[in-house]
Amino acid sequence: MAPNPVTSMKPWFQTIEDVGPELNWGQFFEREQPVEIDIGSGRGLFLLNAALQHPQRNFVGLEIDYREGRRAAERLQKRALPNARVIGGDANRVLDQLIAPGSVDAAHVYFPDPWWKTRHHKRRIFNPEFLDRLTRVIRPGGLLHHWTDVADYFAMVCGLMSGSSTFQLCPPPEEREAENDMDYQTSFERKKRKLGFPIYRAMWQRV
Ligand SMILES: C[S@@+](CC[C@H](N)C(=O)[O-])C[C@H]1O[C@@H](n2cnc3c(N)ncnc32)[C@H](O)[C@@H]1O
Repeated sequence: MAPNPVTSMKPWFQTIEDVGPELNWGQFFEREQPVEIDIGSGRGLFLLNAALQHPQRNFVGLEIDYREGRRAAERLQKRALPNARVIGGDANRVLDQLIAPGSVDAAHVYFPDPWWKTRHHKRRIFNPEFLDRLTRVIRPGGLLHHWTDVADYFAMVCGLMSGSSTFQLCPPPEEREAENDMDYQTSFERKKRKLGFPIYRAMWQRV
């Protein structure tokens, strides 16, 4: 019988249902160490690079598109990375139902879907409820990173964050020359920079 592509990718790719009613990071990862979440992790370039560069930290991508999530997980599985995983499902559900309060060291929100048309802006993932979710799961002292090439999305996020008393704006990371094609924060950063778009970057610390 042909192997089931989903189950054979465990533990690198798991759905919300696989994970169960709550996430215990100590059981989810091989080693208990600080956890960073990548929301809308796409093809997983950030997860891959971050997990290789920081073996003393755990990284988990939350990706609603299972196809993309499996692609990312395949890269992690190929290298048998013990500190990187992908959960397939709606990040809002994972944040609300599975992740314990204050159990996340950093959240990364890179190039979220822009939903260009004004009447579709309400579908943007970064909204006041999403900020509440992040506030709940990020530990005091933890970080929130947001990058995008969409100026009005960035302005909306910065406006929302400036109204939050629980996050403090930090100096943003500077742009640097990529040494090779894998040397970008994410696939979307690579794509947009190659097209010559400016990239907006911000970082906040949970007080
Ligand atoms: C524009 S892509 C960016 C992917 C990646 N962060 C990057 O920079 O290359 C946005 C990603 O967010 C995912 N996404 C959208 N809504 C989501 C949600 N509610 N939960 C999890 N992932 C979501 C999409 O499926 C897509 O892979």
